[in-house]
Amino acid sequence: MTTKIKKYFVIGNPIDHSLSPKLQNYWLKENNINALYDKIKLNEDDLENFIKDIKQQKITGCNVTVPFKQAVIPFIDKLSPEALQTHSVNTIIFNDGSLVGHNTDIAGFTKAIQRLDYNLRGKKVLILGAGGVVPSIIFALNKMGVHQIIVSNRTRQKAENLKNLFKNLKTIEWGNIEYFDMIINATSLGLNNENINLDFSNIGKDKLFYDVIYNPAETNFLKNAKKNGNLIENGKLMFVYQALEAFKLWHEVEPKISNEIFKLLEND
Ligand code: ATR
Repeated sequence: MTTKIKKYFVIGNPIDHSLSPKLQNYWLKENNINALYDKIKLNEDDLENFIKDIKQQKITGCNVTVPFKQAVIPFIDKLSPEALQTHSVNTIIFNDGSLVGHNTDIAGFTKAIQRLDYNLRGKKVLILGAGGVVPSIIFALNKMGVHQIIVSNRTRQKAENLKNLFKNLKTIEWGNIEYFDMIINATSLGLNNENINLDFSNIGKDKLFYDVIYNPAETNFLKNAKKNGNLIENGKLMFVYQALEAFKLWHEVEPKISNEIFKLLEND
């Protein structure tokens, strides 16, 4: 009898840039798991049928990226508590006849920050952007005991909408800056070497500048911050840890984070 090969996908739009297949396939091979992981570009209209294929086990499971982390929810049977609270699903598994939506971005961000050895308790955090990954970051920051979270987004209403999920949020107009200990770029500015035209001259130094973007490894946002004497970190570890948590959910094995992995992700 031949065993059917398990199939996993990452779904999104656009999806070309995704490094998830490289990483997941590396770990599958390393752990001798007979499965394949690929990327697939979908339109919103395709979501329902794609997810039905998981329920029918034509597809074993999937990751979900921008812009579908919320849009997949109506087609899923159960949500993990984290997915429920953030309205954000990035990993789908089929368990005991049900489709379950998980959010591993939260653990991804938390573990990345823990590796930095930077204590966020009682700190003030400014988030730029209000897109797909921001609810997960806010959830993680709250768990880490930050004192205050401020969100600034070009479209202010999207920042305001986050208050439906997180009562303790403050929002400010795009272009304004308030004192912070840590600032997070969660906009797409920097993916193509764009600058973020904000003035940080009154903030002082020794702050933590974090960019969710990891390709390029140093956006102008991070370059300037470093020049001005701040600590910087990009989103690569967050990416690796969210993938690791998804791998654990699907395969019940904890894959290794090694230098090989970082080399693999750099060769692009
Ligand atoms: P989505 O909004 O579909 O979830 P995303 O990549 O997660 O996509 O989010 C993109 C983020 O970058 C948004 O916060 C977006 O701001 P808007 O909500 O106003 O669109 C932000 N962004 C993109 N281009 C920008 C620009 N030129 N200036 C400022 N913010 C920008």
